[in-house]
Amino acid sequence: MQTKESLVSYDMMNEEQAKEALQLAVSLVEGNVDEFTDCFPDSNSQDNFYPKSENIEWTTGFWTGEIWLAYEETGDEKLKHAGEVQVESFLDRILKRVDVDHHDMGFLYSPSCVAAWQLTGNETAKKAALLAADNLMSRFCEKGQFFQAWGQLGAPDNYRLIIDCLLNMPLLFWASEVTGNAKYADHARAHITTAMRCIVRPDYSTYHTYFFNPETGEPVKGVTHQGHRHGSAWTRGQAWGIYGSAMAYRYIKDTAYLEIFEKVTEYFLLHLPSDLIPYWDFDFDDGSTEPRDSSSAAIAACGMLEMARHMTDGKVQYYQDMAKRLLLALRNHCAVTSKEQSNGLLMHGTYARKSDENPCANRGVDECNTWGDYYYLEGLVRIHRDWKPYW
Ligand code: GLY
Repeated sequence: MQTKESLVSYDMMNEEQAKEALQLAVSLVEGNVDEFTDCFPDSNSQDNFYPKSENIEWTTGFWTGEIWLAYEETGDEKLKHAGEVQVESFLDRILKRVDVDHHDMGFLYSPSCVAAWQLTGNETAKKAALLAADNLMSRFCEKGQFFQAWGQLGAPDNYRLIIDCLLNMPLLFWASEVTGNAKYADHARAHITTAMRCIVRPDYSTYHTYFFNPETGEPVKGVTHQGHRHGSAWTRGQAWGIYGSAMAYRYIKDTAYLEIFEKVTEYFLLHLPSDLIPYWDFDFDDGSTEPRDSSSAAIAACGMLEMARHMTDGKVQYYQDMAKRLLLALRNHCAVTSKEQSNGLLMHGTYARKSDENPCANRGVDECNTWGDYYYLEGLVRIHRDWKPYW
């Protein structure tokens, strides 16, 4: 547990450290790209090494995003080629509908295909990302005004949204921008309005998922899926809330989202343990033997750096500094330092941890995961230079 005073006493990542950490991370990505051009790293590592995977699950876009981030830093044609090969795979995936009956089109297609389109004008990438946006649109539930996360559309046992989906919304704002069709952004705004009304609790902790009545659209109840308890704050969910509210403010400019951002961020920061590497759920604090989730700190840092771009007062410095504190802690405690240690970038993440109140099995516990690697790299890029987001 922290206080506002204790938080500002931690060292921040300075420019030299940021440059070195970024160079190291980029060189690790370059070293891994031959292994993962025609395939993808699995969602999480095993003993810190990722097995190879097909283009499945919600997580493959992060690796392609790392390739594009590294390409931006180096201009290396080998990276560009690898990114282009992966873009073809993402087009194939959406055309053949491989594991796309869920809402995570943004996680998959923003860092892979929107990035490629933005950086290289790749038309295949644009086509794939627009098809993914259309697929996400098909999951909009009029009754309740939200995107259903998982399962058969309209099924009562899955009639819910999840906090993570806030990060899928930028794909829709992008789709409206490139097509000139407002329907994508309109639905994104509707989902964000619904989500923010339900998932943020009075103390600014957050629910992971929220159910609605399929007949009336009325909100029913908050339930965890990956957290420790229904009433606890799943750490990564809180981090998605930080980055998600920053995105909501960026695209909608409603000051209510600015306030939510500040409060959910404060909750996250005040509940950090003394080394600033969060446990997987905020039920746990210093002295616990439960695993950490480094990826949450990386997501939170990126969310703060994104929000700082849209603030105008002294808060800009505060959130930039806090992000630099988290990134330094990640570098010191979790960052991979050599290819012999891992083929990822960030150790000590937790994909899922079993508990009495969630349906999960242990998965990727104390391992690298692709989103932790991606957001760590995005965070380093963000503090190194003014970066145009893929989101
Ligand atoms: N979006 C799923 C997760 O954060 O595990």
